[in-house]
Amino acid sequence: MTRLSVNINKIATLRNARGGNIPDVVKAAISCEQYGAEGITVHPRPDERHIRYRDVRDLKKVVTTEFNIEGYPSKKFLELISEVKPHQVTLVPDPPNALTSNAGWNTVRHLDFLKEVIEGLKKQEIRTSIFMETDLEMIRKAAETGTDRIELYTEPYAAEYHLDREQAIAPFVTAAEVAHQEGLGINAGHDLDLDNLEFFARNIPHLLEVSIGHALISDALYYGLENTIQMYLRKLKKQ
Ligand code: PXP
Repeated sequence: MTRLSVNINKIATLRNARGGNIPDVVKAAISCEQYGAEGITVHPRPDERHIRYRDVRDLKKVVTTEFNIEGYPSKKFLELISEVKPHQVTLVPDPPNALTSNAGWNTVRHLDFLKEVIEGLKKQEIRTSIFMETDLEMIRKAAETGTDRIELYTEPYAAEYHLDREQAIAPFVTAAEVAHQEGLGINAGHDLDLDNLEFFARNIPHLLEVSIGHALISDALYYGLENTIQMYLRKLKKQ
């Protein structure tokens, strides 16, 4: 079964638009879990424009499912991780001002860096995942970093889904098969939504987890958070 982790960055974006604490990020995380989410994901960025470091500390106290923190492994980020000790860290190669994650790691170029960071995280018994595109050379190299999992960057799948979904998914199926052969667990995320999720989850072998933020929180405006989470869960469980 593939787990649904809800990325709550957008809740923080909305809160930050006005100052104050509405909507309350901590309350939202608790509600997501009550409504069936199997994990909570946050992505604190260096400018703290959505999730703040303080939110991460507050969330740690209440999250009872899997807590996944994404980010570029800067010194400050890794210090936060050591303090909070989430279940999983997803490393992304984002430059500091990136609007959103838009590329996977080049595991050939950054092999030594990733190895060192991952070794440090594993000493703290934190599961690691690294954000990856479907390039097979990069995926094979990912295994050498020592990471437990990879997170497949699904934006290209989502972009092509409505044109030709068989073609859109093909490289992801191969990438997942290779990753599995290399002993890597498989997560996925970015631009997954109520339209494209079911086909993805049905066709990708060994898919352990998806993290979904933008579309899910946007859908919640129309359907409500509880209904929306149930709708996403049904897309994952009907396999
Ligand atoms: N995975 C990573 C690494 C991300 O940066 C994001 C966006 O913060 C997501 C997954 C979720 O993407 P979306 O918000 O499009 O669902």
